[in-house]
Amino acid sequence: MAGTTTGFDPAAIRADFPNLHREVHGKPLVYLDSAATSFKPQVVIDTLADSYSQHTANVHRGVHALAEEATDRYEAARTAVADFVGADPRGVVFTKNATEAFNLIAQSYAKQQLGAGDILLYTEMEHHANLVPWQLVQPEAGFELAAVPVRADGTLDLDTFAEIVRTGRVKLLAVTAMSNVVGTINPVAEMGAAVKAANPEAVVVVDGAQSVPHLPTDMTELGADFLCFSGHKMCGPTGIGVLAGRLDVLDAMPPFLGGGEMILDVHLFGATYNEVPYRFEAGTPMIAEAAGLGAAVRYLTDAGMDAVRSHEIEIVEHAIPALHDIPGVTVHGPTDPKARGAAISFVVDGLHPHDIGTVLDREGIAVRAGHHCAKPLIRALGKAATTRASFYLYNTVEEIDPLCDAIRATQAFFEV
Ligand SMILES: Cc1ncc(COP(=O)(O)O)c(C=O)c1O
Repeated sequence: MAGTTTGFDPAAIRADFPNLHREVHGKPLVYLDSAATSFKPQVVIDTLADSYSQHTANVHRGVHALAEEATDRYEAARTAVADFVGADPRGVVFTKNATEAFNLIAQSYAKQQLGAGDILLYTEMEHHANLVPWQLVQPEAGFELAAVPVRADGTLDLDTFAEIVRTGRVKLLAVTAMSNVVGTINPVAEMGAAVKAANPEAVVVVDGAQSVPHLPTDMTELGADFLCFSGHKMCGPTGIGVLAGRLDVLDAMPPFLGGGEMILDVHLFGATYNEVPYRFEAGTPMIAEAAGLGAAVRYLTDAGMDAVRSHEIEIVEHAIPALHDIPGVTVHGPTDPKARGAAISFVVDGLHPHDIGTVLDREGIAVRAGHHCAKPLIRALGKAATTRASFYLYNTVEEIDPLCDAIRATQAFFEV
């Protein structure tokens, strides 16, 4: 594993992730499940420990030194996250995860701003987190739901998209920048521009849960009014996610959760609310986790997001042909490495994905099997489940061989 021309050195990167160096069932671990959650570099683990061992205090409240330190670390993390995605720090709301970010927009924006005659347009490719929150508020708000179909090659049917947009009634587009199942990178900026050209009042909600960890991201270039993502998929801790929003849109939104911190004043029978982002951060937030996420984005920035992307393209360039070479294996999603991320779903004739996952696990290879929380997409592919191998900056081209060998061994074991 030599360093690359970009200066990206997978061996040095791997040394930063203690979890990579353990064994599973007596075999060296090959971790191919980063689309579910990523490993954390030592600096993130140290930052979490340091938060609890040296800086324990609540934020925004105390007058003592530790409270100031905790607040500074929390707000520095907000700025680091904002810089990472090209957002204004005042528009960065810390949530529990991406899922909570979607629920916040559904409750505080869609339910308030969309009504009869409006269309909320999502796609058949979405994770449940970008489907169910909208479905929850739809009956009360009275807008229409519409979905862009997925084509057999794992890309969006943009002709149908254009037809729906032409009605001029799409008031909210909710679309993933990168599929967690088939890896497709969607033309989010173009889709958002088309929706806004047909209806200048429309807003664009981008699911960045898979794209922000893997692609250089700039909210303005994406044309996103809202961008939702999770810390735990991008080398950060669990328990923290992000809603990055356009300030003027967030400013006009009522709170989602009520309690301490989100108020300006409270009377016995009424309250006034704080400015954004605090209006949307009720109660004691995830203080250590925010600091950990700050450390994670600094780590990724140092590694270089362009280099991370190039590294993953190189892995996909090798992985897709290697999987295709195995008789009976079908890979879903785009085959062009530049049109996709490194989450690779496949099916094997005659084998259930859970059986594949179980046999691979015995070989120390961690993959995902199932519907990946994207049941409409899995149905559109005509499957009940797939096996998914997902790669990240700490994976190597060398890890593709053990994956393919283990798939062949599974075929031999089940005699297919
Ligand atoms: C594309 C996509 N969106 C949203 C989510 C939800 O993320 P979380 O469970 O961290 O809220 C995921 C998680 O797998 C995802 O892959």
